[in-house]
Amino acid sequence: MHVSRRDILTGLAICPMMAGMPSIARAMAPPASPKNSSRKPLFGIAVRPDQLFSGSDLEAAIRRDCQLIVPEYHGQWSAVEWVRGESYHGNYDAITGYARATGKMVRGHALLWDQMTPQWAKDEMAADADWSLIRNHFADLLPRYRGAIGEWVVVNEMIDTENGASGIRRNAFQRAFGNDYIARALETAHSLDPEAKLMINDYSLVQDNPVDAARRLMMLKLVEELKARGTPLHAVGVQGHIELAKGPIAQDEVRAFLAELADFGVDVAITELDVLESDRGASIEARDRHVAEATERLLDVACAERALTSVTTWGVSDRLSWLQEREPPTREAQACSPVDCAGLNRGLPYDGAMQAKPMREVLGRYVA
Ligand code: XIL
Repeated sequence: MHVSRRDILTGLAICPMMAGMPSIARAMAPPASPKNSSRKPLFGIAVRPDQLFSGSDLEAAIRRDCQLIVPEYHGQWSAVEWVRGESYHGNYDAITGYARATGKMVRGHALLWDQMTPQWAKDEMAADADWSLIRNHFADLLPRYRGAIGEWVVVNEMIDTENGASGIRRNAFQRAFGNDYIARALETAHSLDPEAKLMINDYSLVQDNPVDAARRLMMLKLVEELKARGTPLHAVGVQGHIELAKGPIAQDEVRAFLAELADFGVDVAITELDVLESDRGASIEARDRHVAEATERLLDVACAERALTSVTTWGVSDRLSWLQEREPPTREAQACSPVDCAGLNRGLPYDGAMQAKPMREVLGRYVA
């Protein structure tokens, strides 16, 4: 019986049992890049530029712990070109300067993300689907940081299996250019920096619930299509925004998912790891254990995949985490002096007072 890759993908969709089984495609495919077989993945941290020169405890942890830094939000199009034609490079300059001084690598984040695209650009795209708008934005950044930014998230959060057109999110880019914008963006980025490692990156891919399952399948389809047409896609970023209320880590499915991605010839990365708690009333010990256990369940399968090159946490300390803006809000705990560590969501490696938590210990076992 001939089993095509498509059959395997369909099998993943209709038969959850199959998702945990060793993939036939994997058995038949040449081995994925062996470069990561004997070493641990790199550790990355999302940073804000003002953290880097502070000489603070937070900066010390960034300097000591990680090999890769990513702008948490200062690298977005809206942060770089809020006003049309008036580019601001100060944030990327600060981050690449720090990386040079401390011997770290940098990932650019993100060239295209609908949520952080300036309104003027959205208006222009809606009025006139002219690709030179996208090209000019890329040309503003890629050549300038050639060699300094080794990898870029080119398209961020493009999957939407609930409301999207054929699984692709309806956003300003999709409406203007069709689903093809993803391939075009990768090609444009590649033409401007042929050495850069180009990524797509998305969320809700690691937990055991129907939405994540559908999104894993859609990601596989998308990567299969992009690679089949020779698009310069080098890595897939799997955001690790774990939400404890949304089910356990789908270990068997994630293992199969990452293996299938590797078989398409891409590296994979856990790009935005943090944990949104669901039991803030419990003891600190229990809460930290739940966060660490979820982290361990993800890293245990992800780091066994030899195509996995890095694990990045979305921040370093609970003191400065975007999760503090989620419900229930914890701004008061953040504003306390000293910071009320128990009042914060505790989803990052260090608490609000920079005490390492069990999550940090788990990371230490899995990353370089
Ligand atoms: C978040 C930042 O952490 C926030 O500070 C900002 O206000 C919004 O963006 N997916 C992504 C990241 O790819 O860029 C997002 O970061 C979190 C979700």
